Amino acid sequence: MIQVPKITDDIYYVGVNDRAKAKFENMWPLINGVSYNSYLIVDEKVVLIDTVDVCYSDTFFYKIDLILQGRPIDYLVVNHMEPDHSGSIGLLRQKYPNIQIVGNKKTFNMLAGYHGITENLLEVEQGRSIRIGKRELSFLMAPMVHWPEVMFTYEQYDKVLFSADAFGTFGALDGHIFDRDMDPSRYWPEMERYYACIVGKYGPFVQKVFKTMESMPIEIDYVCSTHGPIWTSAHFAQARDLYDRFSRYEPQEGAVVIFGSMYGHTEVLADTVAQSIAAGGIKNVVCHSLTASDPSFILRDVFRYKSVVLGAPTYSNGLYSPMEYMMHLMELREIKNRYLSVFGSFTWGSQAVKKMLPFADKMGWELIGEAVEMKMSPTPEVLQKAWDLGQTIADKLKGDRV
Ligand code: FEO
Repeated sequence: MIQVPKITDDIYYVGVNDRAKAKFENMWPLINGVSYNSYLIVDEKVVLIDTVDVCYSDTFFYKIDLILQGRPIDYLVVNHMEPDHSGSIGLLRQKYPNIQIVGNKKTFNMLAGYHGITENLLEVEQGRSIRIGKRELSFLMAPMVHWPEVMFTYEQYDKVLFSADAFGTFGALDGHIFDRDMDPSRYWPEMERYYACIVGKYGPFVQKVFKTMESMPIEIDYVCSTHGPIWTSAHFAQARDLYDRFSRYEPQEGAVVIFGSMYGHTEVLADTVAQSIAAGGIKNVVCHSLTASDPSFILRDVFRYKSVVLGAPTYSNGLYSPMEYMMHLMELREIKNRYLSVFGSFTWGSQAVKKMLPFADKMGWELIGEAVEMKMSPTPEVLQKAWDLGQTIADKLKGDRV
């Protein structure tokens, strides 16, 4: 017989896996799929926490039907209105016309806009609680973790925090749902990539909600995010630490060399700088070709490492376009506390270095080393300058060691 997984006696996991979608938000590649997590609490009242992407509503309702056997759902708590979680709300309302939808003012504005639903709503705010039997649900507003309406729901009886996108990750759930029952190592780099791409702009808001949580007298045994494993004492500290470091833009020692190269000449400079940084004693050195690496992996490494090295050719009297896009993605996320170094190339009119250098001021990053410019192809003099730049970066990073 099919079993729907349980978190505790009366809390079921009714989420789904999506291994069909190529790109999350139609931008970020999914290499191991993604889960849309939803939870059903069966007490004197029946409560659903969030829904799933509408493409998976059949599987979602099948699971709910297996559990409820015709019993209606009393409340839907909407922690997050992004359509990967709210997509099935319209169908849910059709199936359960009397269901009361719980959210905040901003939730309801979006509920009207996406689904035309404006009735049978229960508005909550910070600190408000709803008793559903032996359990009570209370609500913690978490605006901008990832959208303005986001809130967390805490269930005190089983000590469960439903945390919307916070502590979420790319990666489908292959069999197990609890971190304690699996080897979660494959999720960590994907959590970094998820954070960098999806939540990356909102670091101060993540920090704010951490502080609010610390000030509240709540015990947490299970953290139920909308994506990825359910975190327990086995690994929640690691997930929390990752979100904490990334939301403070706190990097590890290391360098990410991001380069564009049309015919390989600028790549020679990229390799020279990278080899020099490595020879200077820095363990974490990563090179990304802008046209071979997806931007999501590059962003992940910019969140990881302290030193960002940009290298690109001049193109149509401006900067190589993929580099402009990459700089835009970093700027959008307001990434702080990094070093910037620059190298570039041209054939007749030098523009690339000129266009990249102001990025340090724009981002508030410290410019390290002298920018290297190459005309047409690498000469011994230019390669020496690239090597020297790498040594300067390595020395700067080593100087930060305590
Ligand atoms: Fe998983 Fe912001 O939605």
